[in-house]
Amino acid sequence: MTKFVKIAVVAAFLVSSTFAAEYTIKFSHVVSPNTPKGKAANFFAKRVKELTNGRVEVKVFPNSQLYTDKAVMKALKIGNVQMAVPSFSKFTGLVPQLQLFDLPFLFKDVNHLHAVMDGPVGQKLKDMVTKRGFVALNYWDNGFKQLSTNKKPLVWPSDAKGQKFRIMSSKVLEAQFKAVGANPQVLPFSEVYSALQQGVVDGGENPLSNFYTKKFYEVQKSLTLSNHGYLGYLVVMSKRFWDKFPADLKPKIIQAMNEATVYERKEAASLEGVFLSKIEAYAKKTGKLKIIRLTPKQREAWRKVMVTIYPQFYGVIGEKLIKAAQK
Ligand code: LMR
Repeated sequence: MTKFVKIAVVAAFLVSSTFAAEYTIKFSHVVSPNTPKGKAANFFAKRVKELTNGRVEVKVFPNSQLYTDKAVMKALKIGNVQMAVPSFSKFTGLVPQLQLFDLPFLFKDVNHLHAVMDGPVGQKLKDMVTKRGFVALNYWDNGFKQLSTNKKPLVWPSDAKGQKFRIMSSKVLEAQFKAVGANPQVLPFSEVYSALQQGVVDGGENPLSNFYTKKFYEVQKSLTLSNHGYLGYLVVMSKRFWDKFPADLKPKIIQAMNEATVYERKEAASLEGVFLSKIEAYAKKTGKLKIIRLTPKQREAWRKVMVTIYPQFYGVIGEKLIKAAQK
């Protein structure tokens, strides 16, 4: 190595170590980077870097690369990962009240949903998560869920009878499928594609974003646009990490999170139509996927059966909380 090359190598090392981040946040999630959640996690990482002048680095791990949703809660607790953004059902063991969001046909539309999330009910639920030793940050959207199957296409609730559906670990979702005579089976998100492919389960319920980006359309024969329930997220941080995090940097993280939340919700709203067109194009091109649009009468039949489960959860979630959300 010439003297000049040696100097250049040392200088490069000094520059890179000068700009190395002082803090690293490992941010784990289970979906694809091109979903609203995946895009917002990357957006958050970029904004944190900018706002802290590189003092904090956020490393995003998508697609269950680091942890499945169940394992991530433990990993957060022991500090192996600092941030995650699980869907509400994944909190069932910790804060079962968050299953409120799993109740079928609870929200009239996205405005109603946001009013609940961003109002007193949402705050109360965040406080419960905080009490369990996590920092509850913001609510992120995915979207309304749609039913799909490989067996009898789902037009009326009776069509679901005897079919096996993959669910997230939520007692509400279990009751919802039992109400229509179906057999629910809890599986981690990372196993859904192969479970559908191998016939371990016949169908599932997913927002269009997950249905499209995980290619579930390749292993399902029909998709029913039922909008029967909602799937969203709560961004959480390790309390152990946050407590030790320098006070001057905390507002920057909060700012980046608030900006990412606005971005995430916009993306969720605008990508919904994009994903539907892509699924429709696939269905048309291959003839392998039937897309079913329910008439108001058919959708009302699903609603009527599924809402019968509410009283079962007055104890676990709280009748007052359910009624407050309905308002
Ligand atoms: C699921 O397990 O179906 C979802 O929670 C995945 C996700 O994070 O959107």
